[in-house]
Amino acid sequence: MIIIDGKKTAADLRLNLKTEVDNLKKKFNKVPGLTVILIGEYAPSKIYVRNKEKSAEEIGLKSEIVKYPKTVDEKTVLEKIYELNQDDTVSGILVQLPLPKHIDNKKVIDAINPRKDVDGFHPNNVGNLSSGYKSSIPCTPLGCYLLIKNIEPNLSGKKAVVLGRSNLNGKPMTQLLLKENCTVTITHSKTKNLKEECLKADILVVAVGIPKLVKGDWVKKGTIVIDVGINKTDKGIVGDVDFDEVSKSAKAITPVPGGVGPMTIACLLKNTIECFKRSLV
Ligand code: GUN
Repeated sequence: MIIIDGKKTAADLRLNLKTEVDNLKKKFNKVPGLTVILIGEYAPSKIYVRNKEKSAEEIGLKSEIVKYPKTVDEKTVLEKIYELNQDDTVSGILVQLPLPKHIDNKKVIDAINPRKDVDGFHPNNVGNLSSGYKSSIPCTPLGCYLLIKNIEPNLSGKKAVVLGRSNLNGKPMTQLLLKENCTVTITHSKTKNLKEECLKADILVVAVGIPKLVKGDWVKKGTIVIDVGINKTDKGIVGDVDFDEVSKSAKAITPVPGGVGPMTIACLLKNTIECFKRSLV
């Protein structure tokens, strides 16, 4: 059984990205820039954003955080996005979610220039991904995909089951697996016989936000299990998969923490560099 080391894989990826940034700097005398908009005081968002900034600076990107109080009005945020869309030193724009209730998610995401959309949330990018065209790919499923491919380079004909149908993870994850010629089942809170569906999986990706939902007898022998969950409990941070039970039958499994999490940020850096390169042509 392999415990998938997301920390190490992400560190290797960041090293390659740093070399790429160095080369781009030599060639074009400029570096990719990432601007993150952070609204309010939601503690997990503040931690993510700080980690994003630290990682971006470590590989030589230009990094900026624009902070607003949670009372900021929608117009101010939209105008900032329009300004960043026009700024040639900004390659990528990320608006940290969740947003306060009075701000319309869709309006904010739609306002970002799709060529600077490092999250891959803009409808143009969502459409391009599902049509098989070049697009920004959401960072979390991209990280999961890279971890899966490290274990199993040829996914053709494999049965993949995705738990959770969010725009952030489940839906784009499905598209990535489909592109690899997997047979994909997407399941969610209304799915009947969830356990039976999971038992069919050669590859199981779980992103539902329910601590230790997936038990040992939900997974057949030899499955690759990717746990996107990060749940705070009395016993510390746990995933959506019962690691101790499932690791007995899985071929490979991501731990929480130290699995998918570090890959998400590394993929954000990768997307920022991709946006920069696309801006040059
Ligand atoms: N909040 C939690 N995850 C994400 C993410 O991947 N992107 C953005 N913009 N906000 C998030």
